[in-house]
Amino acid sequence: MIHKVGIIGSGTMGSGIAQVAATAGCAVKLYDANTEALDKAKTSLKKILNRLIEKGRIDEAEKSRIQSNIQYVSSLKDLSDSELTIEAIVENIEIKKKVFQELESYVSKKTIIASNTSSLSIASIASALKKPSRCIGIHFFNPAPLMKLVEVIPAIQTSDKVRRKTAENIKNWGKTVALAKDTPGFIVNRVARPFYGESLRIYEEGIADFATIDWAMKRLGGFRMGPFELMDFIGNDVNYVVTETVFEAFYYDPRYKPAFTQKRFAEAGYLGRKSGKGYYDYSEKASKPQP
Ligand code: NAI
Repeated sequence: MIHKVGIIGSGTMGSGIAQVAATAGCAVKLYDANTEALDKAKTSLKKILNRLIEKGRIDEAEKSRIQSNIQYVSSLKDLSDSELTIEAIVENIEIKKKVFQELESYVSKKTIIASNTSSLSIASIASALKKPSRCIGIHFFNPAPLMKLVEVIPAIQTSDKVRRKTAENIKNWGKTVALAKDTPGFIVNRVARPFYGESLRIYEEGIADFATIDWAMKRLGGFRMGPFELMDFIGNDVNYVVTETVFEAFYYDPRYKPAFTQKRFAEAGYLGRKSGKGYYDYSEKASKPQP
C-alpha cells in the first residue's frame, strides 16, 4: 500500500484530501506555492479536528496523530520521495502541465502522478509527462473528508497497474470508487452542469430569486443543498471554469453554455464562502448568517 503521499495545492480540495490521507495513516506532504494558503490549511485542519472532538468522533490522541501525519512544505521538490502525488491547484491545463513536468523531474519513476481536476482531459495532462502511463485522474468531491465518492479516471495512456493500484488505495482510504472514462466533467460534474446552468437561467429570466430556487430544490426536490448554496460552497471561480471547460470540450454544445451571472460573480471576486460573499453574504457583518 502507498504510504508517502504528496499533495499539490492546499486550498479547499488539497487540504481536505490531505486530511483524508493523513487519517488513513499516510505520511502526507502538503505543498502550496502560496505560504498563506499553507497557514490557512493548517489552521483550518485544527478547527475541523477540534469540532470532531467536540462531537465525540475523535479524541486528542487521534487529533495529534492526524496532525503529525501532515507536513506543510513550500517547495515542490520536497515531494520527491512521494509514492503518490495528487494535484489540486487552479483549474488551468497549461499551469497543471507545467507543474507536472517539474514534479516529474523530482520524483521516482514509480511515483503515480494524479490530478484532482474536475473537468480537464487527463490524456492531455498526461501528455506533458515523459512517462504518461503513470498519470491518472483522482477526483474527490467537496468536502473531501465527508464525501464518500471518488471518481478514478484513467487516461488512454494510463497503465493497468497504475489504475489498479490507485483504485485499491483510494478504497483503503475509506472511499467508494467510481471508475469513469476520460470525458469532459467525467460523471458527476457532467450531470451537475445542467443543474447549475438551468438554475442560473431561471434566475436570469426573472422567474425566481436565488433563495427561492434553493428553497424549492431543497424543500420540493429533496436536495441537501440548493444550486446557489452549492455554487457558493464550491467556489464561483472554480465552478465557472469547470462549466467553461465542459462547454468547450463538448464543441460548444448549448446544453452546457455558461451563464453571464456566474461569470460576473467570478470576475467581481464574489466567489462564495471562501471570499465571504457570493450569491449569499457570509461576512461577519451579515446581520443573519445566510443561507
Ligand atoms: P482553491 O482555489 O481552493 O485552491 C487552489 C490552491 O492551489 C491555492 O491554495 C493556490 O495557492 C494553489 N496553487 C495555484 N497554483 C499553484 C501552483 N502553480 N503551484 C502550487 N500551488 C498552486 O481550489 P480548489 O477548489 O481546491 O480546486 C483545486 C482543484 O480541484 C481544481 O482543479 C478544481 O477543479 C478541483 N476540484 C474542486 C472542487 C471544489 O468543489 N472546489 C471539487 C473537486 C475538484
